[in-house]
Amino acid sequence: MDDRIVSGESSKDDFFELSLRPEYLHQYIGQGKVKENLNIFIQAAKMRNEALDHVLLYGPPGLGKTTLASIIAREMNVNFRSTSGPAIERPGDLAAILTALEPGDVLFIDEIHRLSRAIEEVLYSAMEDFCLDIVIGKAETARSVRLELPPFTLVGATTRAGSLSSPLRDRFGVLARLEFYTVDELTEIVTRTSGVFNMKIDRQSASEIARRSRGTPRIANRLFKRVRDFAQVDGTDTITLSLADKSLEMLQVDRLGLDHIDHKLLQGIIHKYKGGPVGLETISATIGEESHTIEDVYEPYLLQIGFIQRTPRGRVATALAYEHFNLEVPHP
Ligand SMILES: Nc1ncnc2c1ncn2[C@@H]1O[C@H](COP(=O)(O)OP(=O)(O)OP(=O)(O)O)[C@@H](O)[C@H]1O
Ligand SMILES: [Mg+2]
Repeated sequence: MDDRIVSGESSKDDFFELSLRPEYLHQYIGQGKVKENLNIFIQAAKMRNEALDHVLLYGPPGLGKTTLASIIAREMNVNFRSTSGPAIERPGDLAAILTALEPGDVLFIDEIHRLSRAIEEVLYSAMEDFCLDIVIGKAETARSVRLELPPFTLVGATTRAGSLSSPLRDRFGVLARLEFYTVDELTEIVTRTSGVFNMKIDRQSASEIARRSRGTPRIANRLFKRVRDFAQVDGTDTITLSLADKSLEMLQVDRLGLDHIDHKLLQGIIHKYKGGPVGLETISATIGEESHTIEDVYEPYLLQIGFIQRTPRGRVATALAYEHFNLEVPHP
């Protein structure tokens, strides 16, 4: 099979990256509701000896969609095949992937909103009837053949469920929205990560890293690794609160985990547009960040903590945002 399009379990990931990934549902921290539901659906499918229904995972980057997809395969005791929307260029690419599946396998398609229309259409019958209609030959000799596929589970992941066409979205039996993690959950994740790296960390320090991780496990792990670098240079295997604080300050992550792009974004709205409302494209041009990066990566957390609001006329900075920068809140 072509490695460019489909790969087995993420072989590129280094050893640590893999050990940071929980393998089973009970090790996956947080996302209680999603986990509870999936657990029931997985058990039921196993009792019936059937493939699990197709699952769509959506939510901001770094919340654990890819991790959860591979957990689903492991819990179902099936192979995990992984690819992504942009990697599948022709219907033939998809046909090659699908015909290589074994019964019950999980096919994970990351960034599924980026599949082309032509490929989506091939996917419809594959998802619904486990068959594939492909055209063989050209012009007069062209004929359509139907290939039977083994029953399989498509797990799709996307940061923007709204960009999925509705016929595609409707073919998923399970829709699971991942939420930002609480500080307690992230503290648990940081503590676990610390163990993987053979570092000692107390709860207070772990929770300080957690508090600055924007509700996102990937960021928590990234911050942890940088703090660990500072510890290493200091010649210690123990992360203390003062070390964590000092490191995070040097990384220019503020006490809420906001970085310089968040600051640019918020201060742009506040100073250049009197707090808004201002349209996304205008902000994007002002601060020099792609509008979809703002929308997918930065905005969700700022909305979550109530620093900005989306109104029909554009984005508005809230009183909380002004207070965060010690600015006087303007009167309407
Ligand atoms: N619930 C969790 N418990 C412990 N670690 C987690 C959890 N969720 C994610 N992680 C860790 O966070 C990191 C990011 O997770 P993952 O790659 O699955 O996110 P993602 O949602 O697929 O992100 P993207 O949208 O960018 O592809 C991984 O290193 C993973 O080990
Ligand atoms: Mg991912």
